[in-house]
Amino acid sequence: MNRRPRRNRRSISHRALVRETRLHPANLVLPLFLVSGKNIKNEVASLPGNYRMSLDNIIKEIEECISYGILSFVLFPAIPEEKKDKVASYSYAEDCFYLEAARLIKSQFPNCTLISDVAMDPYSSDGHDGYVENGEILNDVTLPILQKMAVAQAKAGFDLIGPSDMMDGRVGAIREALDDAGFINTGIMSYTVKYASAFYGPFRDALDSAPKAGDKKTYQMDPANKTEALIEGELDMAEGADIMMVKPALNYLDVIHLMKENFELPIAAYHVSGECAMLIAACQNGWLEYEKAMPETLLSIHRAGADVIFTYFAKDFAKLFQAGKV
Ligand code: PBG
Repeated sequence: MNRRPRRNRRSISHRALVRETRLHPANLVLPLFLVSGKNIKNEVASLPGNYRMSLDNIIKEIEECISYGILSFVLFPAIPEEKKDKVASYSYAEDCFYLEAARLIKSQFPNCTLISDVAMDPYSSDGHDGYVENGEILNDVTLPILQKMAVAQAKAGFDLIGPSDMMDGRVGAIREALDDAGFINTGIMSYTVKYASAFYGPFRDALDSAPKAGDKKTYQMDPANKTEALIEGELDMAEGADIMMVKPALNYLDVIHLMKENFELPIAAYHVSGECAMLIAACQNGWLEYEKAMPETLLSIHRAGADVIFTYFAKDFAKLFQAGKV
């Protein structure tokens, strides 16, 4: 045998020398669930270790994460039922606590990257990402609502606007509205390839944002489809997205790879709540070892082609990184 691949695996230093993929905490984005009020920190039952927090606790959390090297955050609001309506008007109300939170976070941590969520579902009495009429999600009626939401978020200081709604044409509509309002430097982190997945459950528990009727299959993509990801990618490229996301991540590593091979923009992947919950549950049962299984999972998403990973494990990964364990 003159070919012995094991020679390149002989020692720690040799393995480190030839390692092809490395993940850095700066590539991670931590999702945070915001509620209005003070001194609130309630664990999400289906996503242990993650909390619905009031702004005071979110600020503490961000401060701690920054000390570990996590620099980017995506903020999601849990809106009280009485503030929801058909047109998601609270999403762009002057006194909306989500927008107030962004103002404060950016004034305290001007150097972090704060990403918003644009979709009607947290604010909608129907619980859908778009406007509902007779059970149908109306695309073009939704666009002006998303535009108002996006401009309000840019005004509040979000660095990246994150449309997660999957309406056709929304990236272009949002880009135009941001430019018209003077926010030419506010970027768009588009949920370009978002599937109608069964793995969003814990997230919808956290935000009480599940659809009141029906499902999201007329706007989110069919999990069976891959070529369609290229159509979504071409549209978002043309419409002005700055980062393109694939969501979920783990069950869609082939799609992440496809997007990375076909587009020049940075590719993000959302390691969604259900995917994280499965791993947490296995670790709590003693079936998997968290400190090993968690970094391997994130590394796999990065190896598939994701430059940026949204994950509920961001802080824990950064802690291991700082301790030299990954
Ligand atoms: C809402 C939105 C969802 C997620 C992010 N933004 C849920 C959905 O589309 O129903 C899911 C994230 C997760 O599961 O971690 N537009």
